[in-house]
Amino acid sequence: RKTIFSGIQPTGVPHLGNYLGALRQWVDVQDNAAPNTTMIYSLVDLHAITVRQDPKQLRQWKKESLSMLLAIGLDPNKSTIFHQSDVPAHSELMWILSCQASTGYLGRMTQWKDKTANEKDSSEKLKLGLFSYPVLQAADVLVHRATHVPVGHDQAQHLEFAREVANGFNHTFGTDALIPPETLISPAKRVMSLTDPLAKMSKSHPNPKSRILLTDSEEVIRSKVKAAVTDSIDGITYDPERRPGVSNLIDILYHTDSRSAYSSQEESAKDLAGRSMRALKERVADTVESTVKRIRASYEDLLHDEFYLDRVAAEGAEKAAKSAAVTMKAVKNAVGLA
Ligand code: TYM
Repeated sequence: RKTIFSGIQPTGVPHLGNYLGALRQWVDVQDNAAPNTTMIYSLVDLHAITVRQDPKQLRQWKKESLSMLLAIGLDPNKSTIFHQSDVPAHSELMWILSCQASTGYLGRMTQWKDKTANEKDSSEKLKLGLFSYPVLQAADVLVHRATHVPVGHDQAQHLEFAREVANGFNHTFGTDALIPPETLISPAKRVMSLTDPLAKMSKSHPNPKSRILLTDSEEVIRSKVKAAVTDSIDGITYDPERRPGVSNLIDILYHTDSRSAYSSQEESAKDLAGRSMRALKERVADTVESTVKRIRASYEDLLHDEFYLDRVAAEGAEKAAKSAAVTMKAVKNAVGLA
């Protein structure tokens, strides 16, 4: 039996990095799953509030993110789709795991170190929830006994931590209540920013030209790709070390070109070798547009169907709560709480 679990923060419209690095794989898993596979996908709103959010904005983002998960092709009849805060077992297991997790390990996590390095305020102002973020993420996957977690590269360390916590818990209490999950890193594991190709494409970067949103119009896509930072070396070659900007565009082309018969990025670069940067960018814009076109259209339709969205969320929460209850019973038994 396989159980797939993954999550995304509802902090704005997902970008091409989210899609190629994670969301597209969620749909692939769903559409090619063996009959006894369970798929559970969460909008992790409790993770979203580890940084300050405007309540009105968050509510809107939750709705938009749910519409997007449906627009990319997740089917609520096949996959469980729910808002994390609708299922209290996530928070409950998090507390129990917090009593196992080591603060030393948490303090060494890359995301924590990055966020605190950028934080100008004193440690007095740093929030506990940001520090314990990985414990909640571990609870997310463990509470559903996930066997596989499809994510982009930046989540690998968090899932390593989840395995550590699961093994530690099982060992301490002499139980097999928790299942250490496997990480499934997608082929497009790290899509880079268009304006700073040494940084990953992210929702929070101040420059909107650094990312392509799944809702961007064709015109906007073309202008963002056209403005992408490249280099002044002649010709098109794939060389992520020396040519990060061009190589990121080739990566995007390779992963969005559905007709492509190329077996590698190097091969698709060879085909473009004699072409100009402008020609490369035009092809990238073409394939990105053809990838997001249908998603954009069905997103617009879904967003206005509040009745349907509410129903999907309610049914998803009910199914997720049932899945979580089985684990909570075993965990509480193991600890002596029940
Ligand atoms: P989040 O919301 O930042 O991103 C959602 C997914 O998108 C992937 N991703 C990328 N992949 C490739 N290139 C990029 N530039 C890029 N940017 C984002 C992420 O790897 C992720 O798979 N902590 C998680 C959410 C989470 C979760 C979980 C994931 C909470 N609980 C349990 C898996 C299992 C996060 O903030 O993802």
